[in-house]
Amino acid sequence: MNSRHFLIVAFCCIATAMTARAANPENGKMLFQGRCASCHNVMKKLTGPALAGVEDRHPEAWIISFVKSSQAMVKAGDAAALEVFNKNNQVVMPDHPDLSDDQIRDILAYIKETAANAPKEDDAPFSRPGQKQPNLMPLSVYNFPFMIAYLVLIVVIVILLIFLVNIKSYEQHIQKDD
Ligand code: HEC
Repeated sequence: MNSRHFLIVAFCCIATAMTARAANPENGKMLFQGRCASCHNVMKKLTGPALAGVEDRHPEAWIISFVKSSQAMVKAGDAAALEVFNKNNQVVMPDHPDLSDDQIRDILAYIKETAANAPKEDDAPFSRPGQKQPNLMPLSVYNFPFMIAYLVLIVVIVILLIFLVNIKSYEQHIQKDD
């Protein structure tokens, strides 16, 4: 290999490295919400199955070709595609031939990220005392800001009462003098 060949090979390697891109879940989220969310939720079954863990159920290449045209695969007799199709009452998933492989990878990255961040199944929908702070703090003497405000209020009311009683007796005093 002379140096010219070497340069060409090196250039090709760099060019491929630059075009190979990391999947972008942010972009995937936008695509998912615009194109898939009407039938799919990551965690729940809607018209289509829940998509969490779909990467473990099928190879990536299978998913890409299924998203582009699931019916083409069903008609070609792909066993996995037929199984999913029959399991979902033979509801036809529309083709998305305009999505690129990379866009579908972005969607998959978003699905993976969402599934990983989703609450676990045994997470109660309400907060657990001791684990999460409840929205309303129960009233206790250890709630110092509240207690101080409360005491100040009581002192102010007492002073006000004393003041009013004094005025009243002062009035009576004056009336007696008349
Ligand atoms: C009109 C409803 C609809 C839309 C929109 C839709 N799907 Fe589906 N999808 C389905 C149905 C229904 C199935 C079940 C398979 C079947 O019936 O062919 C399915 C199955 C799938 C599967 C196989 C799941 C599994 O568990 O094996 C994947 C992956 C999938 N969809 C991805 C997508 C993606 C990505 C999008 C958006 C680009 C999308 N779908 C948009 C209805 C839809």
